[in-house]
Amino acid sequence: MSLVSKDQLVQKLKPIYLPHEIEERILPLAEEIGRLKKEKNAVILGHNYMTPDVFWGVSDIIGDSLYLSKMAKETTANMILFNGVHFMAETAKILSPEKKVLIADPKAGCSLAESITREDVKVLKAKYPGVPVVTYVNCSAEVKAETDVCCTSANAVQIVNAVEGDTVIFLPDEYLAGNVRNQTSKTIISHPGRCMVHEIYTPEDIRSTKRLFPGGVTVITHPECHEDVVKEADFSGSTSQMVDFIRNSKTDKIMLVTECSMGDNLRSEFPEKEFVSTCQTCPHMKKITLEKVRDALLKEQFEIFLDEEVIRLAQKSVNRMLELSYKK
Ligand code: 13P
Ligand code: SF4
Repeated sequence: MSLVSKDQLVQKLKPIYLPHEIEERILPLAEEIGRLKKEKNAVILGHNYMTPDVFWGVSDIIGDSLYLSKMAKETTANMILFNGVHFMAETAKILSPEKKVLIADPKAGCSLAESITREDVKVLKAKYPGVPVVTYVNCSAEVKAETDVCCTSANAVQIVNAVEGDTVIFLPDEYLAGNVRNQTSKTIISHPGRCMVHEIYTPEDIRSTKRLFPGGVTVITHPECHEDVVKEADFSGSTSQMVDFIRNSKTDKIMLVTECSMGDNLRSEFPEKEFVSTCQTCPHMKKITLEKVRDALLKEQFEIFLDEEVIRLAQKSVNRMLELSYKK
């Protein structure tokens, strides 16, 4: 067990799982995974959308896409097991090509990543010659290779403002593009990709929930939601920015407009606060289970392999993002 001791883990899991499930399934698997991790000198990165057993039980490092990319680059472990979706594991491989990078289920995709191909980017570049391409990290390594600079939901506005020129091709999330457009003076050319989790929410979902709390509720959204949903919120940010907002705010009634497991993980982390959340799950993120994590380490599967030229080109766009985001 990594981030937390055994006792702390039980405390974190108690509000969410039945006691016998914690004792008979989660703790034995977490212990076995902990042993395998040591044996293989592996580090486990865990995205905020992992279920609490995976998130709290076996992660060494937790966070949003931006922070986990940074840590994938900095780790000294021989092996990285990425508990998230495929594009995240690919990003880790791009940043640490000499390491063995694994994902517990190679079918853990992303509706945004599937919405765009390298060819689509080439067509847009030909249509708008000289216009910089900023691509959300939720895309394949090949798409990253065609990109000038990547971004995440934590730094999209910052990156768009940092690139040269008044016009930016922003790919592939049209809703994130809409939210960026509202915070920049630049012209944004977008592509019709959407996150299948966040596209579902409507402004009326928020208004009707607010009516249930006459004493007030603080609404937090992810910027992959439509701009009209984000406009109803008190705060919008990446998954880690949401955690920081909650940590630093006095508010104790919070409506979360994001993926289901994030609500469970926050309930464990802030037991004194009340969370209203919908169980809008990402079927891709939910493919990662403790059993598959154990098998991934045991059998050293499923390894991420990328073409060397793709790595070389994609590295430039991901490194450029890290430089711009973490510049002193
Ligand atoms: P962040 O953790 O960067 O906010 O990303 C959210 C997401 O949808 C990743 O799949
Ligand atoms: Fe992709 Fe949305 Fe799932 Fe994130 S939550 S992996 S953006 S489909």
